[in-house]
Amino acid sequence: MRKFWLGCIVATVILLVTGFCYVRFGFVNPRADTPVNAIDRSVAMPALDASVDRRAPEIQNPLQPTDANLVAGMKMYQQQCSSCHGGYSHHQGMLADALYPRPPQFMEDSPDMPENQNFYILQHGIRYSGMPAWKQTYNDQQLWQITTFLSHMDKLPPSVSSLWKAAESNSGPLGPADTHN
Ligand code: HEC
Repeated sequence: MRKFWLGCIVATVILLVTGFCYVRFGFVNPRADTPVNAIDRSVAMPALDASVDRRAPEIQNPLQPTDANLVAGMKMYQQQCSSCHGGYSHHQGMLADALYPRPPQFMEDSPDMPENQNFYILQHGIRYSGMPAWKQTYNDQQLWQITTFLSHMDKLPPSVSSLWKAAESNSGPLGPADTHN
């Protein structure tokens, strides 16, 4: 029995040392322009969802989805988020394929997580990805306005979507198509 446990300990130490050497001596690919690998897809991404689910406080959005709140959220989204997450007519953001992991493209895959979780992600960002922590830039009221906009992106009143369209055409190159002009 003693030999069995000794064998387990030696095997564990060998595994840990091999894992450490693999990471420490440069075998992990640092490039952002490669397809997302199977381990990240099947382990890291569900782990992120579980972690946000565990940590995001169970709070309610204090704002109503009035036109004023949606327009305020839209303007911040258009300025700060659309290059990564896509915009009104450029459904693929300029940086859609330039980051690892890929930023979700919200015009095609709407951000339908519970609002408290979107608010938490906006506040704190996501480490080891391009997603910044926006509480450095915006106060809670503004972050809730963006959160409200995210939950209504796929069902905006026409008054708000026409302003969004106009804001996009005023804000310069955003999508891959524009870079060829
Ligand atoms: C520089 C690129 C970049 C910018 C700018 C950016 N994001 Fe992100 N965002 C990302 C990436 C990359 C992810 C995916 C991270 C991951 O899956 O690990 C992400 C994830 C998210 C998520 C979580 C989505 C999900 O389904 O898990 C939300 C919500 C989000 N971003 C909203 C925003 C909003 C709103 C803004 C603007 C205020 C913004 N992001 C700006 C790159 C960006």
